[in-house]
Amino acid sequence: MTKHSMLIIANWKSNFTRDQAEKWLSEFANQLKVPTALEKLISASIVIAPAFPHVQMVSDELVNNKILKSVSVGVQDISPFPAGSYTGAVSGQNLEGYHVKYAILGHSERRKYFHETNIEVAKKVEQCFDHDITPVICVDRGEIQNQADELDKDIFSKLVIAYEPVEHIGTGEGEDATQVAEVIAELADTYPEAKLIYGGSVNRGNVADYTGIENLQGFLVGTASLKAEEFVDVVTMSAQKGSDD
Ligand code: PGA
Repeated sequence: MTKHSMLIIANWKSNFTRDQAEKWLSEFANQLKVPTALEKLISASIVIAPAFPHVQMVSDELVNNKILKSVSVGVQDISPFPAGSYTGAVSGQNLEGYHVKYAILGHSERRKYFHETNIEVAKKVEQCFDHDITPVICVDRGEIQNQADELDKDIFSKLVIAYEPVEHIGTGEGEDATQVAEVIAELADTYPEAKLIYGGSVNRGNVADYTGIENLQGFLVGTASLKAEEFVDVVTMSAQKGSDD
C-alpha cells in the first residue's frame, strides 16, 4: 500500500452468483481498456472484496489478466482464531495462496447482525498481521475511541480506518462532506499515520465532493461497486486526486 495513493475498495457484501461475479470482472476489464481509465487505475490502489466463495475466481482473474494486475483481492471478514477446530470460520491460513491483501473488519453490518465487538475486531487484526493482510477497520463516530483502546498504538501506521456512518450506508445519500471532514480530522488525531477512508453511499455523483478532504485517502464503496461501470467511474474520479498530489 503506498501511503499517498488513493485506496478504493469494492465491498460486494453478500451479492452475486458465480456467473454474475465473472460478468462483473469482464466488464471491469473492458472499461479499463480505455488508456486514461487504466492510467488512473494504476495511480490508485484498487481492492475487490467478494464473498468468500468468489475469492479464488477473483484472485485468479486479477493475477492472470494483464489489465487487472494492479488490482488486489480483499475479504469481508477473517476468523479471530488461528487455523484449527473452529467449524465454519475462515482462518488466515485458509486464505494463503489466494493473494488476499486486505480484510474488511468490524463493518457495521457485522457489528449489528453478527454481534462483532471491538475486542473481536482486535483479535482479527492480529490474525491479519500473521498472514500479511492489511486490516481495514470500519468505525462509526461512537466507535472511534473505543476501538482504538483495544489496539496497540504501534500498529496504527499499518491500518486502514474506514469512517462509516451507519445512517448513510446503502441509502444513496452520502454524508455531508463538511461532517465527513470533521470525523476524518478526529480519526487523524486518534489513529496517527493510519490510512483514512470514507464509506457510506459513495457513488459517481458525489465522490468529487469528498476528494478534497484533508487526510482522506480513499473510499469503501458498497452499492456503487456492484456495477462495474459505475465503480470504474468512482475509481477514475477519486484517483484524479492521487495523481494530482
Ligand atoms: P454503500 O455501502 O456504498 O452501499 O453505502 C458502503 C459500505 O457498507 O461499506
